[in-house]
This record gives sequence, structure tokens and C-alpha cells, in this order.
Amino acid sequence: MRQSSLVVVANRLPVDDSVAPDGACEWRRSPGGLVSALHPLLQHTPATWVGWAGGTGPAPALPDIDGVRMRGVALTRDDVRDHYEGFSNSTLWPLYHDAVEQPVYHRRWWEAYQRVNQRFAEAAAEAAEPEAVVWVQDYHLQLVPGLLRAIRPDLRIGFFLHVPFPPPELFMQLPRRAELLLGMLGADLVGFQRAQAAHNFAQLAARVLQLPATDRRIAVDDRVVRIGAFPVSIDTAEMAALAQREDVVRRAARIRTDLGDPQHVILSVDRMDYTKGIEQRLKAYSELIATGHVKVRDTVLVQVAVPSRERVEQYQILRERVEREVGRINGEFGRVGEPAIHYLTQPFDRSELAALYRAADIMAVTPLRDGMNLVAKEYVAARVDGGGGLLLSEFAGAAAELEQAFLVNPHDLEGLKLALMHALQATPADLAARMTAMREHLRVHDIHAWARSYLTALDGSGRLAARFTPA
Ligand code: ADP
Ligand code: F6P
Repeated sequence: MRQSSLVVVANRLPVDDSVAPDGACEWRRSPGGLVSALHPLLQHTPATWVGWAGGTGPAPALPDIDGVRMRGVALTRDDVRDHYEGFSNSTLWPLYHDAVEQPVYHRRWWEAYQRVNQRFAEAAAEAAEPEAVVWVQDYHLQLVPGLLRAIRPDLRIGFFLHVPFPPPELFMQLPRRAELLLGMLGADLVGFQRAQAAHNFAQLAARVLQLPATDRRIAVDDRVVRIGAFPVSIDTAEMAALAQREDVVRRAARIRTDLGDPQHVILSVDRMDYTKGIEQRLKAYSELIATGHVKVRDTVLVQVAVPSRERVEQYQILRERVEREVGRINGEFGRVGEPAIHYLTQPFDRSELAALYRAADIMAVTPLRDGMNLVAKEYVAARVDGGGGLLLSEFAGAAAELEQAFLVNPHDLEGLKLALMHALQATPADLAARMTAMREHLRVHDIHAWARSYLTALDGSGRLAARFTPA
């Protein structure tokens, strides 16, 4: 087995196996914030990515992708059910997102979580050179830092949580809360999206584990674990370059024509997830049509909602409800050839997403809770023309940075309607001033800056960051 000096460990590999129209198996980039963040970062660096390819049974042999070695971890059907769909996405995911859906606890899910974390830790240990850096990602793998340190004490281990880390009142519900905290504390550096999350973590380490803890450092045995906020970002330059490509500009114009050249195109792009506030947004939009504030001929909503975690019951229920509501709104307010909502569930390639962003006057990103939300950042990066308006939930991590967006509380239906109207009626000068400020922020705070700041904190010098990120 070839070993690397940098190993990224994430539940998902950056590719999904899917079946092409001719029945052949093909690989495509998996949608989701983690992959969008790490994929551009690791391109052409001597790294190994340890993760799951999305199927069951033996891990497929994968080719290197853009110079990155892919090391698949095999999951059985039971592992997927109990680790991925169960403990990760029916216990931790809802709990970490303000319990907007009820978290579910089952003892056998915890056993699977431990078992699968152990397997990931062993795969990472095999893939890492002596004294390598191993960077563990997200809530599916919170035990990996501790398990890996036990096998390979020579490694430098980082952990980054892409989703929110909840306040103690919520986290304390977890039956295995101490083990989860200790697992994360196996890392040398634990990174979060927001300073509040690091604060929550420090409070819990003190309360549950009685460890000396500040918002920057936690003492564990004879080690000091550093913690902090490192807001993740996107490859701003890559998205901007894509959005400027002639074919993308032409495609954006074509999208507007196909939509009937309305005055306003509103766009939302989400994974089909109950944290994304899709139902609240549809309700606000339909009420605005019903009261005549929005006219279907003048304004269209394009809702892209790519199915996600489709075997989890809460996701199945959400999809049914969203599709029923889209059908109701189109049935009630649409006309022949003029639906009120254009609803798309397909995964798109990056250039089609860029064209959609460029075609949209208003991007509505209104999650009930979101660790960061990279779609909001992608939209801003794509608006190389300086146009467009961003309607953004206060409960997305991105709101702390994109302060010039039209910020909204998505739980407040009247507030949501007002903010949408405000964005729709904003003057071009107001929109341009907001967009320019947000673009400038993202020009500096891109994915490379994120990696530099995290990796510099991880090794205490600039050496590691210089090895893996462009100057
Ligand atoms: P999350 O991590 O919860 O999925 P983010 O907004 O942070 O949310 O990231 C979603 C990522 O998935 C973005 O990079 C976005 O471009 C991508 N994505 C969302 N919908 C699609 C789609 N239909 N096709 C392809 N990529 C998508
Ligand atoms: O960003 C949060 C996250 O859970 C990532 O870890 C994940 O890759 C992405 O959303 C998509 O979810 P999933 O991997 O379950 O399809």
C-alpha cells in the first residue's frame, strides 16, 4: 500500500458511483458541502482521500482523481443503515441542527458507529506515512481522532466539523456524549465553523469530562488540544472563471429565455434536507402569489432540490411534502407553459450550476440551521457581473461573513416574505454595492485561505500549509 504525507478522512469520497443511461457504471462528483470544499483544495497535491464510495460490499478499486489517491472503505448494508442512515443522520444530524427534527436514539446504531469509525481509523493508519498529517472530517467520524491516535501516536491529527456544534442543553441529550467528546479530543486541533461552536465544545469538555478548558485550549492527559473557528469556503476564483466562460454566459441567457424572460428569476439550490427550510420558503412564496405581491408571469422560482439520504424516513417524508406543495402551488397559480415553480431534482455539473447562478436575480438561501452553506458563497462568486441579490438565513454559518446579504429569520414567515420583497424591489445600485462587498470578502476568504489558516494552526508553522496550498 502506497502511503501519503497528507491523508484526508471523510465519510464520503468525492465521487459517487452512478449508472449511466447506457447502463454502464460511471463516477461523478458527489453533491454536498464537504466535497465542494475539499475537492478543489486537494487537486494536484500528494494526498490520499479515505472515504466511502456510496455503495455496499467490497470497496471498489478507484483510480486517482486529479492526482489524489482514492482509498475506499467498505461498508456493509448494516453499516450503512446503522452508521450512516442511523447514528450519523438520524441521531447526530438532527441534534446538531437545533433538533428541527426529532433525534432518534438506538443502541445498535452506536455499536455500528464505533465499528465503522474503527474501520476508518485503520484505513487512515495504513495510508499515512510516518509522522504524516491526517485530517479527519465531520460528524460521521468523531471517534476517529482518538482511535487513530491509539494506533499511530506518531501522526499529527486534525479534526474539522462542517456542521454546527450544538449548545450544551442539546448535546447533553446524547447517551454516549462523553465518548464522542473524547473521540474528538484525540486530535491536536479541533476546528469548527463558528466561534460559538468552539465555545459550546469547551463548555461540554469542562462539564462532561471535567477537563480544564478555554475557548482555545483543552488539556487532556499530558496533551493540549487546540480548538477554534475556521469558517470553510469555496474556490472563489474557480467559480468566477467558470461563470465568465462564454458557454456559461450563453447558457444563462438561454435559461432566462426558456423561463419565459420574466422580470425576476428567484433560485434556490439545496440538498433535499429538512434543515434547508424548503417548505417555509415555498409557503412564503405561495402566500406572496396569493396576495398578488408576486405575479407568476413576472416572477419565477427555480427550486433545485437534489435528493439526499433517501432511505431515511424523515427525508422521504420531506420529499413527499415538498413535491405535494410544489404540485399544489403550480396547480393553483400556474398556467399552461407558465408554472409558478420550476422544480428540478437532478444533480448538475458545475457549469450548469454556474449558469443557473448567473441567470438568477435573487438567490434564496434560507436554511433553518446550516453549518456554513456553500451555495450562498458560490452564488456570490459566480456574480462576476456584480449583479444579483442574496437572501440569506441568519442561521447559516455564511451569514456571519456575508453581512451585506438580505438577512432573514426563516422561521418568521412574514419576515421571510418581507425580506424577499425587499430583495426583489432593491435598486440595481443597492444590489451592486452589497454584491461588491460580499465578493471582496470571498476573494480573500476562499478555500485556500481556509486551508492555510487551519493547517498553520495544526502544525504551528507555515510549513504544512505551504506544502499543500498554493502561495
Ligand atoms: P450541504 O453541505 O448541506 O449539502 P452546502 O450548501 O454547503 O450544503 O453545499 C452543497 C454543495 O452541493 C454545493 O457545493 C452545491 O453546489 C452542491 N450541489 C447542490 N445541489 C446540487 C445539484 N443539484 N447538483 C450538483 N451539485 C449540487
Ligand atoms: O456538509 C455536511 C454534509 O453532511 C457533508 O458531510 C456531506 O458530505 C454532505 O453534507 C452531503 O451529505 P451526504 O454525504 O449524506 O450525502
